[in-house]
Amino acid sequence: MSEEVKRGLEGVVVAESGLSFINGDEGRLIYRGYEIEDLARNASYEEVLYLLWHGELPTRDELADFSESMAEERELDEDVLDTVRKLAEADEQPMAAVRTAVSMLSAYDPEDADAEPTDREVNLRKGRRITAKVPTLVAAFKRIRNGNDPVEPRKDLGHAENFLYMLNDEEPDEVLAETFDMALVLHADHGLNASTFSSMVTSSTLSDLHSAITSAVGTLAGPLHGGANANVMKMLKEIDESGKGTKTWVDDALDRGDRIMGFGHRVYNVKDPRAKILGEKSEELGEAAGDTKWYEMSVEIEEYMRDEKGLAPNVDFYSASTYYQMGIPIDLYTPIFAMSRVGGWIGHVLEQYDDNRLIRPRAKYTGSKQEDWVPIDER
Ligand code: CMC
Repeated sequence: MSEEVKRGLEGVVVAESGLSFINGDEGRLIYRGYEIEDLARNASYEEVLYLLWHGELPTRDELADFSESMAEERELDEDVLDTVRKLAEADEQPMAAVRTAVSMLSAYDPEDADAEPTDREVNLRKGRRITAKVPTLVAAFKRIRNGNDPVEPRKDLGHAENFLYMLNDEEPDEVLAETFDMALVLHADHGLNASTFSSMVTSSTLSDLHSAITSAVGTLAGPLHGGANANVMKMLKEIDESGKGTKTWVDDALDRGDRIMGFGHRVYNVKDPRAKILGEKSEELGEAAGDTKWYEMSVEIEEYMRDEKGLAPNVDFYSASTYYQMGIPIDLYTPIFAMSRVGGWIGHVLEQYDDNRLIRPRAKYTGSKQEDWVPIDER
């Protein structure tokens, strides 16, 4: 057996998947054959969920039924809401709060506890409930933390629109609702990224869907993955406040050996196609508000990083200034990523259950193979 170590599993193909495909040299991303640009500009998040979970785009009637069934599941059980309240009052990190609350959802899920963990129909229903409820718990967390009462979800609004409504207790205008819906579509799936892989590892033991999604939330939280979007905005603000000038600030950071958040990718060698679309949105929002400062600063960093390091922006780079200009608190950017990627996680877990084999790699042992036992009093 080969002892070659593939650090970070780079380039290792561990599963077959029909969900999404990335061409890292062309900067191309597709979900089940559809170009991400087409989906972002035309499909709603609910439509993309249907595509990912059922394998094809829904008809008008199918989409209406599916969206309605999602909207029906938005409310949280009182006990879950109570826990969200306690977490917000304890000043818990938002991603940790999402992780705890998602785990707790299983206690109130109405499916038969004795159902096979791999039952596709059961998991589709459970997955729909989890996906419908994550926005409610993120919005409730934010409201309670700010000293406000949570806003009850509305069934007559779409997934994206309803989230913004619950967040601000105000219906968003069309531009905000569409921009947010597009952001959810763009983040829904992305091959075997770390959090998706984490959900697959958990489900490969035939553990249940809630456990798989809880694992994934924990994995997404890190700054090398989903946590990067919040750090991008912190960086932009720091540059702005430093008075140093963008290039000097970035240069100093690179000299210190720091990573510039929102740049680099394991799979893309060129600009992430999602960053292109979100860059346009960031610019549009800046123009509409009469202040393109954040967009311009981002473009300056993009050009500098390209020239100095040969690195291109990933999805997190322009989502940061887009969300900021939408008035979303910075520490909710990663929970929003989770709100969207949960759709992809569920799709991959369904695939894993359908063709399961335990995921169990090996390590190349580098420790000692021969030590003589020393009794504790003689050490
Ligand atoms: N800033 C500065 N240098 C970088 C960066 C960066 N953001 N990313 C990679 N590099 C350099 C790195 O120092 C290394 O250089 P050298 O070979 O001279 O040591 C080279 O590029 C390759 O980096 P790597 O760490 O081997 O690449 P990786 O595939 O293991 O890591 C990554 C990929 C995304 C973790 C990394 O690019 C990174 O840390 N980026 C910043 C965090 C970030 O934006 N994460 C979001 C990823 S995309 C969306 C998501 O999944 O959430």
